[in-house]
Amino acid sequence: MAETLVETPRKLDDAVRRADEHAMRYRGDFPILDRKVHGRPLVYLDNSATSQKPRVVLDALNDYYTRLNANVHRGLHTLSEEATNAYEASRERVARFINAPPQNLVFVRNTTEGINLVASAWGRKNVRAGDEIALSVMEHHSNIVPWQMLARETGAVIRYFDIREDGSLDMDKAAELITEKTRMVSLAHMSNVLGTVNPIEAIVERAHEAGALVFVDAAQSVPHMPVDVQRLGCDFFAFSGHKMCGPTGIGGLYGREELLEAMDPYMGGGSMIDEVRLDGFTCADIPEKFEAGTPNIAHAIVFGVVVDYLAAIGMERIHAHERALTDYTVERLEEIEGLTVYGHAPGRGGAISFNLDNMHPSDLSTVLDRQGVAIRAGHHCAQPLMRRLGTSYGATARASVYFYNTSDEIDIMVDAIHKARNLFGP
Ligand code: ALA
Repeated sequence: MAETLVETPRKLDDAVRRADEHAMRYRGDFPILDRKVHGRPLVYLDNSATSQKPRVVLDALNDYYTRLNANVHRGLHTLSEEATNAYEASRERVARFINAPPQNLVFVRNTTEGINLVASAWGRKNVRAGDEIALSVMEHHSNIVPWQMLARETGAVIRYFDIREDGSLDMDKAAELITEKTRMVSLAHMSNVLGTVNPIEAIVERAHEAGALVFVDAAQSVPHMPVDVQRLGCDFFAFSGHKMCGPTGIGGLYGREELLEAMDPYMGGGSMIDEVRLDGFTCADIPEKFEAGTPNIAHAIVFGVVVDYLAAIGMERIHAHERALTDYTVERLEEIEGLTVYGHAPGRGGAISFNLDNMHPSDLSTVLDRQGVAIRAGHHCAQPLMRRLGTSYGATARASVYFYNTSDEIDIMVDAIHKARNLFGP
């Protein structure tokens, strides 16, 4: 390794050593990782909230506004044509990244908007009183509240998968929860709290047998592992650019063609129409039908740069890196007396929640911040899961890793947790 961040490196197994070497190859791409916080080198472990941005992304943003800026799908002048071509070329690249046809990929602000779009535009047309929607207790609020809003409006009923002791989805109840009454099953691909990776293909099989659709909230999976929507077989799938090295305010919603075609628009306005008369309108084809108004052009174009950057590193490698670093992190955290790690499902991802006895996670996060270590503390927009886990403060601390993190950084965090324990007493 070119750089050692702590003085007493531990004996590392091969997978962790490879992960460290991998991280060191890419850390230099991220200017922010050079900064200091409270006089200490930044140790950024809040990647599930948002990832850092490599220089290629920063340069692409600058390049767009310096060279290309114009509205898309509206002008016939050169700049507008070039911006439109770049926007559509980016759609193709982002769609390819998840193995979707480009016309089936709608640019949205983020995963939340993708879920709201479907809950509203598909839900209002297809869900009636007494119909059922199946979610799980591990969902983020963005995969609960839009469905609760739909249920409130239509009289539909929401049912929840529970979790097992290790934080995996309790599939024993799948046959009970997904029945001929179920219209939609909407699940996180990977939990932002437990790191659990859900068995989407098995869920899809069961749901389709019952005549239900499946929505995959992929906010935490697409940045971290290879994903192929056609192999998953899901009907809808949403993800956010900012968690995968991209800017905020841009994400993708994939939907199966016939479903998107049959849905009414979500918002009305420019671009989403074919023709408007005083007595009505007709819609544009998909995906424009769902992209009313001037879109987030710059960030949509940069999204294409983002997926090229990740694809060049290799999603398999990113996944292997994070698996090794996650195991290392869980192991090191569990050495700390009085510390509980939540989530031990096999193959779990790198969003690692934990609590220290007798210390509020917010206090822990503040003490860690003074050491330069950024983690998240709180309910992680998953209050029902906090209750289900029985967390003392309705909250946890959470460290979340990405491919630029090293085991040295985990060691720094662990040392800082020990300091926090000494400060607050065991
Ligand atoms: N959903 C994001 C998180 O888990 C914001 O932190």
